[in-house]
Amino acid sequence: MIIVTGGAGFIGSNFVLDWLAKHDEPVLTLDKLTYAGNLDNLRSLEGDARHTFVHGDIGDRELVARLLAEHRPRVIINFAAESHVDRSILGPGEFIQTNVVGTFNLLEAVRAYWSGLPDAERGAFRFLHVSTDEVYGSLEAGDAPFAETHQYQPNSPYSASKAASDHLVRAYLHTYGVPVLTTNCSNNYGPYHFPEKLIPLIILNALNGKPLPIYGDGLNIRDWLYVGDHCAAIRRVVEAGVVGETYNVGGWNEKTNIDVVRAICGILDELKPRADGRPYAEQITFVKDRPGHDRRYAIDARKLERELGWRPAETFDTGIRKTVQWYLDHPEWIANVTSGAYREWVTQQYG
Ligand code: NAD
Ligand code: DAU
Repeated sequence: MIIVTGGAGFIGSNFVLDWLAKHDEPVLTLDKLTYAGNLDNLRSLEGDARHTFVHGDIGDRELVARLLAEHRPRVIINFAAESHVDRSILGPGEFIQTNVVGTFNLLEAVRAYWSGLPDAERGAFRFLHVSTDEVYGSLEAGDAPFAETHQYQPNSPYSASKAASDHLVRAYLHTYGVPVLTTNCSNNYGPYHFPEKLIPLIILNALNGKPLPIYGDGLNIRDWLYVGDHCAAIRRVVEAGVVGETYNVGGWNEKTNIDVVRAICGILDELKPRADGRPYAEQITFVKDRPGHDRRYAIDARKLERELGWRPAETFDTGIRKTVQWYLDHPEWIANVTSGAYREWVTQQYG
């Protein structure tokens, strides 16, 4: 069986659902259920004997040790993290606690478990750490996309905490021999994306007749990847990745933020026109920039393609259309995630 940490969040839940749609190998999801963790995402697995949910913290070494001893996973995939850059700017403490200290405690429990395994199981075991392209810092226009060899230059408390966790993971291979793999992925989008992040926030604000907030001049660039493609990449790295290697994951879809927002507005104009017949783009509003806002991210995913044969199945156009449609089809999910605590965040961040 495999253990997935952070499996009630956006990417983790997509991963668990996709895994069980493709394999019969059981999954144990360990998740602290922070504001970003949502059991609704895994609702379709209720009663499925292949899935077990455990409410807990990756930093709880005793709990993790108990789960490892009891379930004897062959793979652990670590998605658990605090993941929103704006929250890390307002309050970095939780990011250090989960992303750095939590990952450290998880690694300690994994090291103890792995070193006690019989030879064959020890050789086959893998710990995959899910990380981000943000650890590489910011690119200027015309710079080559981030390759795996790019220097780490994190600029936000979030990316610095993820960089620290990547370094710890690397050290556990080099010092103790724990068989680790790391993936560094670009911006994901798709179903179950919590609406504090750009794409779901814009879809929901548009539908609710609210301003569509664009930080700064709207010309910051992100490299977008449909979440299902990220999950496929992780499955491939688990299956065939070389221990100790890092793999960059990206969709070759660099877009300015303003272009992303205009694309969403255009799809909504088509699928769910405004009652007054005016275009959604009229709701676009430029707001104060994010402090230290990285200008451009772009991923060079050629290593993953060359060595493991992974390629994204979705283009930005197909993926964003599916995503907008998913939000239109899931008003109940939206209503549940946008209750109390979410409203407080929106007021704090946007006034
Ligand atoms: P998310 O915020 O939607 O989900 C994080 C999940 O982790 C939540 O379910 C939360 O409850 C859980 N969690 C938080 N702290 C925990 C703890 N201490 N113990 C156990 N569970 C805990 O995040 P996401 O967007 O799904 O990102 C998942 C991972 O992928 C993160 O490590 C993130 O850094 C990385 N990543 C995200 C993106 C992206 O675009 N979203 C891109 C590249 C990499
Ligand atoms: O690159 C991978 C990273 O992508 C992940 O590691 C992070 O977990 C994930 O949150 C994401 O980080 P970003 O900061 O790039 O994503 P976000 O959706 O917050 O913002 C995308 C861009 O849109 C960024 O340039 C900031 C801008 N933005 C964001 C919000 C929320 C706006 O202009 N307005 C907004 O209201």
